Amino acid sequence: MDDNRQERKKEDYIFGLDIGASKINLFVGISEGESVRVVECGDFPLANADEYDLVVETLQKAVQVLENSTRVDVRDVYVGIAGKQVNSFSYKGLITLPTGEVREEDIENVKKQASTLPASAGEIIHVFPGEYTLDDEEHIRNPKGRSGRRLGVDVQLVTSRQNALQNLAKCINRAGLNVAGFVLEPLAAACAVLTDDERELGVALVDIGAGSADISVFVNDSVRYTASLDLAGNVITSDISKCLNVPISLTKAEEIKKKYGTCTISNLIEDDTFPVPAVGNRGDVPCSRKLLANVITARVNEIFKLLAKDLKKHQMDSIINGGIVLTGGCCALEGIEDVAAKAFGKPVRIGKPKGMSGIQEAFQKPSYATGIGLLYYANKQHKKKNETGAQLAVSVKKGFQRFLEIIRTYF
Ligand SMILES: Nc1ncnc2c1ncn2[C@@H]1O[C@H](COP(=O)(O)OP(=O)(O)OP(=O)(O)O)[C@@H](O)[C@H]1O
Ligand SMILES: [Mg+2]
Repeated sequence: MDDNRQERKKEDYIFGLDIGASKINLFVGISEGESVRVVECGDFPLANADEYDLVVETLQKAVQVLENSTRVDVRDVYVGIAGKQVNSFSYKGLITLPTGEVREEDIENVKKQASTLPASAGEIIHVFPGEYTLDDEEHIRNPKGRSGRRLGVDVQLVTSRQNALQNLAKCINRAGLNVAGFVLEPLAAACAVLTDDERELGVALVDIGAGSADISVFVNDSVRYTASLDLAGNVITSDISKCLNVPISLTKAEEIKKKYGTCTISNLIEDDTFPVPAVGNRGDVPCSRKLLANVITARVNEIFKLLAKDLKKHQMDSIINGGIVLTGGCCALEGIEDVAAKAFGKPVRIGKPKGMSGIQEAFQKPSYATGIGLLYYANKQHKKKNETGAQLAVSVKKGFQRFLEIIRTYF
């Protein structure tokens, strides 16, 4: 916990909220210029993310626990959003230049035009402007000040189903919080785990959580593609409950997965076993670790293969020269990166949240990449707001100086 909290201004605190299929992560941080200091991280299990009352209850508990330990009011939270309700599109905008020269407002107008979507396309949560065209000239990064007649832009839009956002906002408001902004979860995670060279080369971030496997392709600071698969940790748990030599409950299967699960089959000895309780209190039955590893690896492999196929289908495989970065709770499975490397045919690494002051070691895990990334994202927004505020203050000061000059001149 942060010991300097008394000296902090209320506005310096930032909050990130990751409501996953299996848990709620609420992070409290402090903006420190480029960096973020994690003050406190709360990890609250969620038995069923589809039950709104339960989500609200868990959220209220999370807020209470964090407010008690930090003595900071948790209010405006940046909220992660992912899954099937998210879509990404590329769109083009084209405008005629009224003055024959590209001004700042023309750039804004062409971006606005490119992001005008029919209501059925959902609500836009991010706009990533790409390259511009000016008449017949293409691939322009910054057209400002150039002469021409027509200005075009390619934008990448990330949208979400409107009712999904509304329902999420309702839950959050019921817990006494305000939504400062919705953030595509992989975009948040990217802020926490990707390196500059990975972004430049193009990289796919794959988050294997409990309910879904989400993939996003990044090039520079833009999201090029997103997709989501309803297969992840929960399905692996369900496979385990059905496929061992004795049927077991999902709770027991989850426990076994975390304790004995691995994707590194070759390291296991043939007769290595672990105890499984037989139905009806009939004592323990030995179960093969190799069988468990085979069950897990088969599903993990299927997930990666499906994602790899999807990338290929959308011609994204050729632009991810920086490889694949894995996040999410399933990364705790030993050897998962090797299964991914084979399925994608690309180099793979596990993404842990990178150097921020104050992160307890326990939170430098791939499952917290989204929550901590939300703090990074919140920090960027916080800085932008401060800069705009500072610019406003400078222009007010300049205006006042001008006023004084006029007074001095005329009186
Ligand atoms: N040690 C471990 N071994 C294997 N799996 C693990 C381990 N620790 C966590 N998991 C799995 O990770 C998943 C939870 O990951 P995470 O917290 O990223 O999911 P989530 O954010 O709640 O879900 P989602 O992102 O799909 O909404 C669960 O399925 C859990 O069983
Ligand atoms: Mg998640």
